[in-house]
Amino acid sequence: MTRLIVVSNRVTPPTADATGSQGGLAVAIGEALRENGGVWFGWSGQRVPEFTGQVNLQRAGGVTTATVDLEEQDVDEYYNGYANKTLWPLFHYRIDLTEYDRSFDAGYARVNQRFADTLLPIIQPDDIIWVHDYHLIPLARELRARGVTNRIGFFLHIPWPPMRLLATLPRHKELVSGLFDYDLVGFQTHEWLEAFCDYFQREADAEVGDGVMSAFGRTVRIGAFPIGIDAGAFKEAAKSAEALAARERMRESIAGRQMIVGVDRLDYSKGLEERFLGYERFLADNPERCQEVFLLQIAPPTRSEIGSYQEIRNKLDALSGRINGAYAEVDWVPLRYVNRGYPRAVLAGIYRTARLGLVTPLRDGMNLVAKEYVAAQDPADPGVLVLSQFAGAALQMPEALLVNPFSQEEIAEAIAEGLGMRKAERIRRWEALMHNVESCDVRRWRDDFVAALEAARLPVAMRPPA
Ligand code: ADP
Ligand code: G6P
Repeated sequence: MTRLIVVSNRVTPPTADATGSQGGLAVAIGEALRENGGVWFGWSGQRVPEFTGQVNLQRAGGVTTATVDLEEQDVDEYYNGYANKTLWPLFHYRIDLTEYDRSFDAGYARVNQRFADTLLPIIQPDDIIWVHDYHLIPLARELRARGVTNRIGFFLHIPWPPMRLLATLPRHKELVSGLFDYDLVGFQTHEWLEAFCDYFQREADAEVGDGVMSAFGRTVRIGAFPIGIDAGAFKEAAKSAEALAARERMRESIAGRQMIVGVDRLDYSKGLEERFLGYERFLADNPERCQEVFLLQIAPPTRSEIGSYQEIRNKLDALSGRINGAYAEVDWVPLRYVNRGYPRAVLAGIYRTARLGLVTPLRDGMNLVAKEYVAAQDPADPGVLVLSQFAGAALQMPEALLVNPFSQEEIAEAIAEGLGMRKAERIRRWEALMHNVESCDVRRWRDDFVAALEAARLPVAMRPPA
C-alpha cells in the first residue's frame, strides 16, 4: 500500500470538538492517513523571527503531522499577500479587491521553495503526494526541480476564474503553467474544470482529450472531484447530547418563532452584506409575519489582518446594527449576529433547529455548509435550504431553493417561500438533497481522487521530459 503525503497551507489535525474551518476535510484526510499511514505537512500557524526549516513531527488523533513555522515576512507576503490579497479575490471574481505587488510574488515563491526543501527529506520512493489549494500551485515544480519523481496531485478547493479575469494577473501564465508539473489536477465542479481548459486552450494552445490536457510539451490528467462532508458523522452529531443541549438552550429564546440560520467565515465571497439586505427586504415586505421569524448569522472572523476583511466586518457591524435599530421590538430582535466559532455538534444542533438554511455566497468552489445543513435535519420535519446558484454545490443540489445572491428580491422571496413551504414538499426536497449529500460524501471524494492519482502515471511516451 502506498503512503499518502497531504500538503496544505495550514495543518488542522482532527479533534473531537473541531471548531476550525476545515472540519470535514480534517476528518477525511485524517482518516485516510490513519488507514494507510502517512503524513500531513504544512504551516504550523506560528510565526518566528527567522525561518529555521525545522520540521515539528507529531502524532495527533492517530495522524502524523509535520509542521514548519514561518517568519513574519513570509506570512505577510505569502499568506496575507499573494494567497489572500491576490489569488483569493481574483479566483472569486473580485478583481476590484485584488492587489498586485511584486513583493507578494517573491514571498509566495520563497515559501513554496521552503515547503519543498523541508518536505524533501520526508518523501519516500513509493509515496503519493496530494497538494491542496491556491497557496501551493508551484509546489510540484519546486519538488520536481529537487528530483522528486513521485506521483503528485493538486486539488483546487476554490473556483477557477474565467480566462479574461485570470489574464489581469501579472505573469499569470508563469504561475499556472506550474500545474503541468503535477500528474493530476482536480477541481470541485465541471464548471471550474471547463474554465481551466478554456484558459489553457486560449493562452497555450492546449489540447484537451478524455481526462487529459497537453500543453508546454507536457500532459497532465484533469478531472472534477466534488468534495462532500462526513454525512453519517454529521447526522449523528445533530442527534448527540451536545446538539440536544444546544437546542434546549436556544428553545426559550426562540419562543416558538421560526429560525433562519447562516454560518460562514466572515469573508466577502460569502455574500453576507447582500444576504442581510435581502433579509431586510423580507422584513419590509412582510410586516405581518416578520416578528414570527429571526435570522441567526454565525460568522467567525477570518484573515483579519487584511484590509478587505476589516472592511466587510465594519460594513456588517453597521448593517446589522441598522437593521436591528429599524425593526427590533422590546421582545424581539430580527437579526442575531454572532462572530465566533462553535464545536461541530453544537453547530449541528443549531442547523437542526433552523427552519431555513441561508447559504448565499457570491461565488464559492463548493460550500460545505449547505451539505451540513441538509445532513443535520430531522427527516420527519426537515428545514428548507436556500442556496446561491453561484456555489459549486448548486450543481449537485438542484432541489434547494436556488437564488441569485446579488438580488435582494430573490433572497426575500425565497425566504418567504421557504418559511411557508408545506411539510410534504419540504420532505420531498430534503430526501433528494440528502441522497446526494450521502452518496457524494467526503470519503468518495478522497477515494476517487487518490485512486485517480494512483492510476495517473502517464504512459512513458507521454511523460514530461526529465
Ligand atoms: P469555506 O471553506 O470557504 O470556509 P465551506 O462552507 O466550504 O466554506 O466550509 C466552511 C466550514 O467551516 C464548514 O465545515 C463549517 O461548518 C465550518 N464553520 C464555519 N463557521 C463556523 C463556526 N462559527 N463554528 C464552527 N465551524 C464553522
Ligand atoms: C477556504 C480555503 C482553504 C482554507 C480555508 C480557511 O476553505 O479554500 O484553503 O484552509 O478557507 O482559510 P484560512 O485562511 O483561515 O486558513
